[in-house]
Amino acid sequence: MSNEWGPLAGLIGEWEGTGGIDHAFKHSKNIVFDTAYREVCTMKPFGPVENGSQTLYGLDYKSAMWREDEENPFHTEVGYWLWDAATGEVMKGFVVPRGITVLAGGTTTADAKSWTMKAAIGHEQYGIGENRYLAANASSRSYEVTINVGDDSFSYDEVTMLNMKEFDEPFAHTDIHTLRKVRN
Ligand code: HEM
Repeated sequence: MSNEWGPLAGLIGEWEGTGGIDHAFKHSKNIVFDTAYREVCTMKPFGPVENGSQTLYGLDYKSAMWREDEENPFHTEVGYWLWDAATGEVMKGFVVPRGITVLAGGTTTADAKSWTMKAAIGHEQYGIGENRYLAANASSRSYEVTINVGDDSFSYDEVTMLNMKEFDEPFAHTDIHTLRKVRN
């Protein structure tokens, strides 16, 4: 079964990690700050999805991140990962509940253990949508994520370039984490 999911096969399951690091401008402290976080992520396979002659297989995913003792997560994502075996196109489409949607994409091989997906505001295929407040105050200009799949672990290393009203130059908001599989 897992061949149909190509490089996404190694991401199927339930995942947890406690060593995430988020680098962002924090309004409550008025400084750029590295926040340690724990994360719970589920990836459930589905497919095929047919768009005319295109056949996609995907993962339905949800992820949530908490600071040490918080009850409510400070960041969540819901979305889909998608794989087109005919073209090697791999995508991650998700919503961040600040009012941001992202469809990041790239190409790779079915047996890849590492690949990168990118999105940019205004890009015709792999775009970013954001609400009006964010467009004026903290606009997500680009997003890039590199995935590494291990044995019962995976990691992501992502950079979101923001145009923030607090800074003259684009600001690199980064997140890195390695999660381990807790359930198939
Ligand atoms: C693991 C993933 C992520 C985590 C843990 C995270 C966490 C955070 C945190 C802690 C802040 C600072 C909020 C504050 O205290 O003022 C922030 C700001 C922000 N994040 Fe993320 N973030 C993640 C991914 C993303 C992604 C993928 C995007 C967009 C594609 C994004 C867009 C933003 C924006 C636009 C802000 C600025 C909001 C503002 O200035 O009001 N983040 N994020």
